[in-house]
Order: sequence, then C-alpha cells, then structure tokens
Amino acid sequence: MRRKVIAGNWKMNMLPNETIQFIEDLAPLVKDTEHEVILCVPYTDLFYALLTAQNTNIKIGAQNMHFAESGAYTGEVSGKMLKSINVEYVIIGHSERRQYFNETDETVNKKVKAAFENGLKPIVCVGETLEQREAGKVEEIITNQTKLALEGLTNEQVENTIIAYEPIWAIGTGKTATKEDANDAVKAIRKKIAEIYGQNVADGVIIQYGGSVKSSNAKELFSMSDIDGALVGGASLKVEEFQKIIEFEK
Ligand code: PGA
Repeated sequence: MRRKVIAGNWKMNMLPNETIQFIEDLAPLVKDTEHEVILCVPYTDLFYALLTAQNTNIKIGAQNMHFAESGAYTGEVSGKMLKSINVEYVIIGHSERRQYFNETDETVNKKVKAAFENGLKPIVCVGETLEQREAGKVEEIITNQTKLALEGLTNEQVENTIIAYEPIWAIGTGKTATKEDANDAVKAIRKKIAEIYGQNVADGVIIQYGGSVKSSNAKELFSMSDIDGALVGGASLKVEEFQKIIEFEK
C-alpha cells in the first residue's frame, strides 16, 4: 500500500522565529504518525526549519528552485544550494508560479530533472483552471502537464516524484473538489503514468490532492482509492489544524 504524504505549503508566510515555534509545537504532536509529514517553507526559513526539525519526523522542503546549478540568475536559488543545507523536498510548478512567474511545462521539466540531479525529491503540481474544467478538459490538461513534467526521467525517478493534483479554482478559495472528482483526476494521472512508465511505477507513485484541504475534509479525501495525502496551503499555517489533517483517521 502507498503511504500518505501530508505536505504543508506555507507560501510567502512565516518568519524564522514563527517557524521554530511551529516546528517545536508540531513535532511532539505528530511523532508517532505513520504518515509522512513535510513542511515547504520560504527560503529564509529553511535553515531554521532544518535545524529545528532535526531528530523529528518532520521533513523540510523548499517551494521552488532554479534549474541551473549556478550562474548569473539574480535572485534565484539552485537545487545544489538547497541540497547543500540538506533540504529534502522541493515543490515545482505550483500554479502560483505558473501564473505569476511565467513557469511553463518546459521549465517545470527542467527543474524536476535538476532536482533529481541534486538529490532532491520534487513535489510537482498540476491542475486545471475553472474554465478548463467547465470545458470538459480536466483529464487532457492534467495528464498532459504530468507527461511534460516527467519527460526524460527514469522509471525510478518517476516513482520518487510526488505529484500534487491541485485544481486552480480550489486553491485558497475554500472550494474543494468533491472527493469523487478529485479521485477521478488523480486516477487519470496515474493511468497516464502507467501508459508511459508501466503499471508498477504508476502503482507506487504518490499523488496528492491540493486545494482548500482542511481538517474537516481531509478524512473523506484521503479515504479515496487513489489520493495519497495532500499539499496543504492555508490550513498548514496553524499547528492544531495541520496536526488534525495529519491525524485524519482520528
Ligand atoms: P490551499 O493551498 O490549501 O490554501 O488551498 C493549496 C496549495 O496552493 O498548495
């Protein structure tokens, strides 16, 4: 059976002192969970988060990286830099990055490859707009984004990629996809991976749902056949709420 992975995406929130406090508070509460817990924090919090999360079962991720290893890219941070301080995960291709920072399927693919070259595990986001959903194009859009994001990876790399299905209209809006719609979308992504990389790889790859996940809807979403946890934005900023999502069975 696939494990459940609950990842927080703090976006542009939290200062170092708040980060330290958050992790100190959360760690004892989730120390016995069998699920994987990841916090993807701003660059300026990474070092503090990594130090505070040492000897806990909380893993730390970044929210973006550049695909080049180094060079004249003012303001950017490379995979090599993230790895140098022991960051483990990195979110790639979040819809906010695609929308506000011109990320394309091509740059997403370059970043995913660079993540693996630097020993980082990517959490790759895909998802449709409301317009695309209403036009009946969900499957086409998300399977194509998935295919392009993973292009050129080995089977083993694909198995080690986490995919987050995040319908754009559900992010930060309080609107969640129904559990059936979310599961259908995740299934479609898994089917596409099976077509390209084989059923074994598809059966192993973690595919999360994201978009207004909170403690009150986590259980119904996570009990679906293909949803392997969540990428959580707003609800990951409060210890108690995030803890309840991690302990969704209770
Ligand atoms: P949300 O964000 O949970 O606040 O909707 C999810 C995300 O953007 O990853």
